[in-house]
Amino acid sequence: MINALRGMKDTLSPENEVYEYIIKTCTRIAQNYGFTLIETPILEETALFKRSVGESSDIVGKEMYQFTDKGGNDVCLRPEGTAGVVRAFIQQKYDKAGGTKRFFYHGPMFRYERPQKGRLRQFHQFGVESFGEADVREDATIILMLKAMFEALGIKYSLEINSLGCPACMPHYRSQLVRFLDSLEGLCEDCERRKLTNPIRVLDCKNEHCKMLLADAPLIVENLCVTCKEDFSTLKAILDQFDIQYSVNPKLVRGLDYYSKTAFEFVSSEIGAQSAIAGGGRYDRLVEFLEGKATPAIGFAMGIERLMDLVKMPEKTREGYYIGALCDEALPQVYTLVNSKRHEAKVLSSYEAKSLKNHLKIADKNDVKYCVCIGEDELSCGKIWIKDLESKEEKSIAIEEF
Ligand code: HAM
Repeated sequence: MINALRGMKDTLSPENEVYEYIIKTCTRIAQNYGFTLIETPILEETALFKRSVGESSDIVGKEMYQFTDKGGNDVCLRPEGTAGVVRAFIQQKYDKAGGTKRFFYHGPMFRYERPQKGRLRQFHQFGVESFGEADVREDATIILMLKAMFEALGIKYSLEINSLGCPACMPHYRSQLVRFLDSLEGLCEDCERRKLTNPIRVLDCKNEHCKMLLADAPLIVENLCVTCKEDFSTLKAILDQFDIQYSVNPKLVRGLDYYSKTAFEFVSSEIGAQSAIAGGGRYDRLVEFLEGKATPAIGFAMGIERLMDLVKMPEKTREGYYIGALCDEALPQVYTLVNSKRHEAKVLSSYEAKSLKNHLKIADKNDVKYCVCIGEDELSCGKIWIKDLESKEEKSIAIEEF
C-alpha cells in the first residue's frame, strides 16, 4: 500500500469544513481592507528564495524541496509565499507604476522540516502582502486586520512585536552585536555559523546555554535611529489606541532574512511547542533586492493547520434538500427533480428506492433542511411529500408548487 509522504496529509470532511471556513472568513476580512486575490506558481526558481528568504536561513539552508527539472533548471517547491508575490509584483511592472497594491493568497507551502505536532512538510498559509506604503499606520492596519481575523475565528492569541531597524541603524547595531558575540565562548555550532552569515539570528537561538550567554546582548530596540524609533512608538501608540495587547520582544528576529523595521508574531498558548500561528513584518528592501524599483512593503502569513484546532466553528445550520424515491417506479421522477432543483440549491439523493424511515435518517445525517419523498400515492396524484427537518412540519404539495 502506498501512503502519503511523511509530514504530508490528506484532509477530508469534516476537517475540510474548518479549513474552508478559515479561508472564507480571512478572505472576507482581507477584502474589507482592500486586498485582492493573487495566485503564484507553487514551483519557482531556487534563486528566488536564496536571494529573498536568504542563504543563512534554515528554510533555504536546510529545508527546501529543491531539484533539477527536465530542462536542467534549478527549481524548488515554494517554502513561503512572499518571495513569489514580490516576483510577480515586479514581473507585472507594478513597481514602475507606483501607487499601492494589496494582495492576499492562500495555498500549500513546503519545508523539509522534522515533522511533529503543528509542523508539517506540506502545510498551508493564508497571507497578505501590501506594496507601496511606507507609513507606519499600514503596519498597524495589517496587525489590526490579523486581530480581526483571529477574533472572527474565535482564536485567542498573544502578540509580540519588535523593530529590526533600517539601513541607517541596523549595520551599526550589527557591528556592536558581533563585537559582543566575539567576546563570548561556548556558543553552539549554529550560532557560530550565524555569527558570520546573519548575526541577529543568534538572538533567537533555542539552546539554553546560548540563551544564558546572550542575556546581556545589546538590543536593536535600544539602538534604533530617530525615524525607526519614532515609527516604533507610533505603532505602539496605535495598538494601545485600539486596545490590542502586545509585548515588545527585542529578541524577535524572525526566521527569514528579508525583514526590516516592524516584525511581529502572533502566538497561541493552546497548541504546544509550535506555537506561532502567524508572523510577518516589513520588508522595504526586498523589491529592490530582486531587481525591482525600490518599493516599501509589509505582510504576514498564518499557518492554517495550526489554527484548525483553535477555530470556534459557527453552529451548523441545515441547508438544502434530500429527495428520495419510496418505490422503483418513482426513481425516474426523483432523478429529474433532483437535477432540475440543483440549479438553485444543494440537493442530495439516492439512486435506490428506500423506506421513508431510511430516507429521513440519511437526510438528517447530511444536515439538509428538507426531506422530500415520492412514492406510489404521490405519483398517482402529481404531488410530493416534504418534511422541514428543523420545524418538523410535514405536508404534501403539488409538484409544480415545489
Ligand atoms: P513564517 O513565520 O515562516 O513566515 O510562516 C508563517 C506561519 O506559517 C507560521 O507562523 C506558522 O503558523 C506557519 N508555518 C510555518 N512553518 C510551518 C510548518 N512546517 N508546518 C505548519 N505550519 C507552519 C512566512 O512564511 C512569511 N512569508 C510571512 C510574511 C508574509 N512576511 C511578510 N509577508
